[in-house]
Amino acid sequence: MKIAVLPGDGIGPEVTAEAVAVLEALGLPGLTLFTGDVGGAAYHRHDHPLPEETLQMAREADAILFGAVGDPTCDTLERHLRPEQAILGLRKHLGLFANLRPAKVFAGLEHLSPLRADIAAGLDMLIVRELTGDVYFGAKGQRVTDTGEREGWDAMSYSESEVRRIAHVAFRAAQAAGLPLTSVDKANVLETSQLWRDVVVEISAEYPGVTLDHMYVDNAGMQTVSHPERFGVVLTGNLFGDILSDLASAAVGSIGLLPSASLGERQTAFGTFGLYEPIHGSAPDIAGQGKANPMATILSAAMMLRHSFGMEAEAARIEAAVGKALADGMLGGDLGGSHGTAAIGAGVRERL
Ligand code: IPM
Ligand code: MG
Repeated sequence: MKIAVLPGDGIGPEVTAEAVAVLEALGLPGLTLFTGDVGGAAYHRHDHPLPEETLQMAREADAILFGAVGDPTCDTLERHLRPEQAILGLRKHLGLFANLRPAKVFAGLEHLSPLRADIAAGLDMLIVRELTGDVYFGAKGQRVTDTGEREGWDAMSYSESEVRRIAHVAFRAAQAAGLPLTSVDKANVLETSQLWRDVVVEISAEYPGVTLDHMYVDNAGMQTVSHPERFGVVLTGNLFGDILSDLASAAVGSIGLLPSASLGERQTAFGTFGLYEPIHGSAPDIAGQGKANPMATILSAAMMLRHSFGMEAEAARIEAAVGKALADGMLGGDLGGSHGTAAIGAGVRERL
């Protein structure tokens, strides 16, 4: 079982180190870890945010544990050299089109949410975000108009095959969990969304047991903070999913708690090949201070065991340990507590 560990920038190395320590504490036989450079860290060493050798290591692995990318010293580089291109490149090159972002309020921790506790208690949703299409990967540029004005442009598009394959992922997740599915789009304005909606309706015929509804993205943002209990599985495109998943994570109480899995079609000997990362970024303002909450990355490692290695029991063990650490008051600065990265990591390992 080969895991490529790509710590990246900012707090990435600190939080991935704790997740790796949790994996090691489980004492799983046959686990081999490789570490590679990615993001700004890779740019500084190899003049590229996603060096060929890192991509090669990622391709040869059964799963990737990813920290974060984003480095303010790279902000003025040409776009193709910026750290963010590393994660976008990995997703695209590895065909990781399905991004699973579960967001739930841990029982007993409703008070950590900025929402009223009775509203927060209902928040338990899985966002299924398309990850390799949309305006993210369309043609883009800047030009000068006829009137001599500068203009920026980005093309948004989805083909029906792209919508179909991510819709199947969401319908299967909803079916397995017995949850309703909400497809989020902006079909009142965008043709891309109209096609999205039409295809989702077509696919729904194959899943008669799943209750489907459609919601415009602006309304979905509003409902996430006013009636989160109405959501089970949320299916959406790349851009809307980016925004809604940050919104949902903030509603949980901290972006430092939420993991993610990015999956494609490739099967390995052990499960589905995937990339696992916390949904928070590199947080350069607190990097290197031992303050970052490693729970999102630890929970990402749990998702890795579940999806890429078929180890449901071990995944559940990690999740239970994190839940227990939180219930015992092991809160990081992101949650108003004072526990540091190493203390939280050790606290989770003790509770495994
Ligand atoms: C995320 C991040 C990325 C995205 C950035 C770093 C390119 O915000 O994973 O949500 O927009 O997808
Ligand atoms: Mg984001």
